[in-house]
Amino acid sequence: MACDNDPMPQSFEYDVLIIGSGAAGLTVALNLPEHLKVCVVSKAQISSGATLWAQGGIAAVLDDQDSTENHITDTLNAGAGLCHEDAVRFTVEHGKESIDWLIDSGVDFTRDRDEHYHLTREGGHSHRRIIHAADATGHAVSTTLTSQAEARPNIELMSGRVAVDLITNRKLSLPGNRCVGAYILNLEDNHVELFRARFTVIATGGASKAYRYTTNPDGASGDGIAMAWRAGCRVANMEFNQFHPTCLYHPHAKSFLITEAVRGEGGLLKLPDGSRFMDRFDERGELAPRDIVARAIDHEMKRLGADHLYLDISHKPADFIKHHFPTIYEKCLGFGIDITREPIPVVPAAHYTCGGVMSDERARTDVNQLYVVGEAAFTGLHGANRMASNSLLECLVYGRAAAADIARREADIPPPPEAPDWDESQVRDSDEDVVISHNWDELRHFMWDYVGIVRTTKRLQRAKHRVDLLSAEIGEFYSNYRVTNDLLELRNLVTVSDLIICSALQRRESRGLHYTLDYPGLLNEVRDTVLVPTTYRTLAP
Ligand code: FAD
Ligand code: SIN
Repeated sequence: MACDNDPMPQSFEYDVLIIGSGAAGLTVALNLPEHLKVCVVSKAQISSGATLWAQGGIAAVLDDQDSTENHITDTLNAGAGLCHEDAVRFTVEHGKESIDWLIDSGVDFTRDRDEHYHLTREGGHSHRRIIHAADATGHAVSTTLTSQAEARPNIELMSGRVAVDLITNRKLSLPGNRCVGAYILNLEDNHVELFRARFTVIATGGASKAYRYTTNPDGASGDGIAMAWRAGCRVANMEFNQFHPTCLYHPHAKSFLITEAVRGEGGLLKLPDGSRFMDRFDERGELAPRDIVARAIDHEMKRLGADHLYLDISHKPADFIKHHFPTIYEKCLGFGIDITREPIPVVPAAHYTCGGVMSDERARTDVNQLYVVGEAAFTGLHGANRMASNSLLECLVYGRAAAADIARREADIPPPPEAPDWDESQVRDSDEDVVISHNWDELRHFMWDYVGIVRTTKRLQRAKHRVDLLSAEIGEFYSNYRVTNDLLELRNLVTVSDLIICSALQRRESRGLHYTLDYPGLLNEVRDTVLVPTTYRTLAP
């Protein structure tokens, strides 16, 4: 029921609505023609998302000794047979021009003493090919792109706006399969506003918040994946959630990553007795792909009953460490750990969503005029395991491809049809927020325990049973109460967790990041796990 002093719901119309202001969303915005009226919304600050926290850098072929074929081969190997080779080739071949665009936009990457860009190494890469801004690459990318966008008269940036759901012709009972915008919650006055647009772009990042321990910021609740799913898009390969091997282990360090570049520059993984162990798991040792390193750490922690292991770079000169890893040095020192003199306590944590909304080389989805870019997308690039630093590259390459496609088509796309305002007449304010906080905790606990680094069918079935109960409870809550950010995130997390569990149950083999004790081998047939909204319930075991 509306009160007399409630503000009138607002409505907006744009050529392009971009939901998410990380590397992917801002890349689309900045590459669109300047005659288009563009709006970028973010539920947090504009400079936010996983992008702001990226450390290691961006992979691209920038050295004469390297080649696109090398980068392609390394990506295919890390992806354990499941990468789409055309997507890998497309991404790698557009790598250098995307980095040049970032440099032209003003990103100040770290240089060697001879003024060439310094390239570091990370797991799975056979060459030095990671361009970076010390150990805070994401900060440099995010703040640069944000100030570029702020300076563009055709781009409106709105923070504190949470997309609730996409609006499609189907929902409006109109013919055709078109996205026409989104309903968006304004966190300042808690009203849901109507945003209509000729084109809508999902750039909402990943879903690692589904897990109790994660390197990701709070907003990584898979909103765009869940919204696209509800709007009728297929999602693929959601079982492949990447766990980063080295998150700082300290009671007060929330989600702080220790970049893989520490291992790239000689850091060694050690047991509590100071001995190394990675050579027992892979001949590439500390620089094996992430799935192998995370599983090895998990195995050793369980074998020893340890709650963490160590990453040690203290054998390198102190100046070298402070120069390459200033952020990590300062952060650890703040917790009383001097990384130039002692090893860093580390644990694995959920880091990256390899699956997502299915898209093509132009970033189009199954719904017309709806695009998806960045971590929310499934392009086929990462296969069963994303290679380090290929993610920001994907944001740039596909962000630019989406903008180019919109520019090519925009003259032919008519304005969006009228749509009704958000209807709040049947809901009231919640008087039981404990339901939300309790279910947040429960979901993230069982996802960690049952759908984590090592899985079994029994554990997955237990998780499926619990997620079904939560879906019903949250569905009822959503129908009866006014939406809040916490409720929306929980609703989306329940959906993506369900997608992860159902995908994991369907994969009867161990490949890349999906490792199950019940099917430890590889199948000969290589197949994506594609979930289709209409057949989903019957697909779920
Ligand atoms: P994000 O940067 O996560 O941005 C998502 C945006 O969507 C945010 O603005 C958010 O507010 C907004 N949003 C989400 N939901 C909604 C909603 N419902 N309504 C409105 N807005 C919404 N990759 C690399 O390649 N190299 C690295 O060195 C690297 N280091 C990393 C370090 C850390 C700690 C982490 C967490 C990730 C790292 N990654 C790295 C991965 C990489 O940073 C991400 O995959 C990438 O930044 C994702 O960019 P994005 O634009 O898709 O999403
Ligand atoms: C890191 O710096 O270790 C993260 C790199 C990535 O996730 O690509």
